[in-house]
Amino acid sequence: MYFMKLKNKLIAVFSGIVLGPTILFSVCLITLLKSREHAHVMDALAGEPDLRDLCIKLACLIIVILVLTGITMVSFIYKEIAVPVHQLSEGTRNIAEGNLDFEIEIPGSDDHMAELCRSFEYMRQKLKETTERNIENENENRLLISNITHDLKTPVTSIKGYAEGLLDGVADTPEKQEKYLRTIYNKANDMDRLINELTFYAGIDTNRVPYNFTRINISEYFDDCVDEIGMDMESYGIELSYMNYLDRDTQIIADPEQLKRVINNIIGNSIKYMNKEKGFIYIRLKDEESDVLIEIEDNGRGIDVKDVPYIFDRFYRTDRSRNSSKGGSGIGLSIVKKIVEDHGGRVWAQSHPDTGTTIFIEFRKYKEKE
Ligand SMILES: Nc1ncnc2c1ncn2[C@@H]1O[C@H](COP(=O)(O)OP(=O)(O)OP(=O)(O)O)[C@@H](O)[C@H]1O
Ligand SMILES: [Mg+2]
Repeated sequence: MYFMKLKNKLIAVFSGIVLGPTILFSVCLITLLKSREHAHVMDALAGEPDLRDLCIKLACLIIVILVLTGITMVSFIYKEIAVPVHQLSEGTRNIAEGNLDFEIEIPGSDDHMAELCRSFEYMRQKLKETTERNIENENENRLLISNITHDLKTPVTSIKGYAEGLLDGVADTPEKQEKYLRTIYNKANDMDRLINELTFYAGIDTNRVPYNFTRINISEYFDDCVDEIGMDMESYGIELSYMNYLDRDTQIIADPEQLKRVINNIIGNSIKYMNKEKGFIYIRLKDEESDVLIEIEDNGRGIDVKDVPYIFDRFYRTDRSRNSSKGGSGIGLSIVKKIVEDHGGRVWAQSHPDTGTTIFIEFRKYKEKE
C-alpha cells in the first residue's frame, strides 16, 4: 500500500515540477505577446514562418528535456528510496510476526539509506541470536529440571525402600539394620551433594559465584587434598598416586573452596566411570615455566574420540544408555570449566576408549611482582 502511495506521490511531485513551470511559462508568454505593446512581435512572427517554427520547436524541445529529466529523477529516487523503504517495512512486519530469518537486501550505494538498512540487518541478527540463546536456555533449563527429577528420584526410592525394610522388620539383625541405616545415610548424602551442585550451578549461570581469591601454596594445598582423597579411594579399591614436580614454594591465586570442587568433580568422574578391577588414579603437578600444570589421569573406561571435545559442555553425557545407570546431569565438567576459566586458567582432556582419561588444568603461577 505504502509502496504504491510513495511511487504515486513521486510521480505527482515530478509531474508538478515539469508541468507547473511549463504551463505557467506558456500562459505568461502568450499573455505577454497578446498585449498591445508587443503586438508587433506577433505580427513579425506571422510574417516569418521559419522563425515561428523555430520557436515552436524550441518550446517542444524544452518540454521533452523537462519530461525526460523528470522521468530519470523519479526512477532514480524511486530506486534509491522507495525500494529500500519497502524492504524495511517488509522486514519490520516479518520481525513483528516473529520471522527473524527475513533478510533485507542492502543497497550498493554508500548513503544514509544503505546505512539504515545495514543497522536494520544488524538489529535483526542480534535479535535472532538473543532469541535463539533464550530458546536454548529454556530447553536446557527444562532438561535440567527433568534431570534433577530423575537424579533425585533414585536416592529417594532407595531411602523409601530401606526405611520400609526397617519398619517392616525385614532387617532383623543388628548388622542388617546398620547396613540399611548406612545406605539411607549415604543416599541422603548423595541428595545433599546433588542439591548443592544444582544450587551452585544456578549461581554460575547468572554469574553470581562469590569467589574468595587468595594466594595459595599449591604443593601444600595438594598434599592436604591427596590425603583426604586417598582415604576415600581406599574404600573404592582404587590406588592413588601423587607426583609433585613443582618447586615447593610455587603459588597460585585461587579460591581454595572452588578449586576443591574442581578436583572433586574430576576425581568423582574417575571413580564413577572406572571399569577396571584394579583402578588407578594419578595426580601429577608439573612446572611449565610461568604456569602450573595439573594432570589427573585414570585407567577407567575412557571416552570416545568424537565425544572428547564436548564433555565440558553443560548437560553433555556420552552414551546416555550406558550412562543412565551412573546417574548425573552432565554438569560436573561444565562447572569445572567455568571455575577454571574464572581463575584465568585452561582445562582440557585427553582420552582413549577403554584405556583411560586425563584431565589437564593449567593455572598461571603467582609472581611477587604482579
Ligand atoms: N574420567 C572419565 N572417564 C570416562 N568418561 C568420563 C570421565 N569424565 C567424564 N566422562 C564423560 O563425560 C561426560 C560429562 O561428564 P560430567 O562430569 O560433565 O557429567 P556427569 O558425570 O555425567 O554428570 P554429573 O557430573 O553432573 O553428575 C560423562 O557423562 C562421561 O560420559
Ligand atoms: Mg561428573
